[in-house]
Amino acid sequence: MTLDRVSLESAAVCTVPGTASRECVSLRPPSPEDAQEFVARMRASRKLHRPWISMPQSMEEYAAYLERSRKETNAFYLAHRREDDAIVGFLNISEIVRGKLQSGFLGYGAVAQFAGGGYLTEAMRFLLREAFTTLRLHRLEVNIQPGNLGSIALAERCGFQYEGFSPRYLKIGGRWRDHERWAMTREGWRAVNRLERERRDSNPRVAPGERFTVLAVVRVE
Ligand SMILES: CC(C)(COP(=O)(O)OP(=O)(O)OC[C@H]1O[C@@H](n2cnc3c(N)ncnc32)[C@H](O)[C@@H]1OP(=O)(O)O)[C@@H](O)C(=O)NCCC(=O)NCCS
Repeated sequence: MTLDRVSLESAAVCTVPGTASRECVSLRPPSPEDAQEFVARMRASRKLHRPWISMPQSMEEYAAYLERSRKETNAFYLAHRREDDAIVGFLNISEIVRGKLQSGFLGYGAVAQFAGGGYLTEAMRFLLREAFTTLRLHRLEVNIQPGNLGSIALAERCGFQYEGFSPRYLKIGGRWRDHERWAMTREGWRAVNRLERERRDSNPRVAPGERFTVLAVVRVE
């Protein structure tokens, strides 16, 4: 998988509230040119990220991050706001296993300045299309600490399904933390897309640019 060749052009409807344009964010793999902005934005987002994740806080840490992003088993993306190219967040797929699994783990975070603006919701939809089409994955898994309501809200809104509770699953900040396991399969993603299309088609008042939430969870047998 050559990330430089990833093209994320899309015709998706922008879901950021109050925005008339069709797309508000685009996804690109992190590059050396992003170093200064990314590190500055991650440093400024420390309070939002703690205690859930820790991100590069120095140029050295960013260099290591960039190195990891280039591994065959990872697919890292930065979400850029289209109007000014500002980095608004990141979404990273890691530990991709091919063969009979075709699966990866997803992690993400917003830039504090832009948090709550709907950018991550839209970026997640682009990410899901990328994962289930270009990357040909079959399953994406997100592990979320039970108290991380913002992350749970985002996963749920984008159609991930709750699969179960994993006690003492990940060591974060020096302690083994419980996590909830949320996942989406390609079939689930298609079902979510179908639902959203049907809802849009059956309600002409849902205009392009208007945001809506997946209200039904679809079980794919
Ligand atoms: C999780 C995270 C990426 C969400 O980003 P975001 O910028 O809030 O995403 P969006 O703006 O697209 O979505 C905002 C929506 O989430 C909801 N939300 C955000 N934070 C919330 C919270 N603490 N509790 C409940 N809902 C929350 C908002 O109500 C909003 O929904 P609404 O507009 O329908 O009311 C961000 O909170 C973050 O970076 N958290 C720290 C890092 C992290 O936890 N990463 C994931 C580890 S598993």
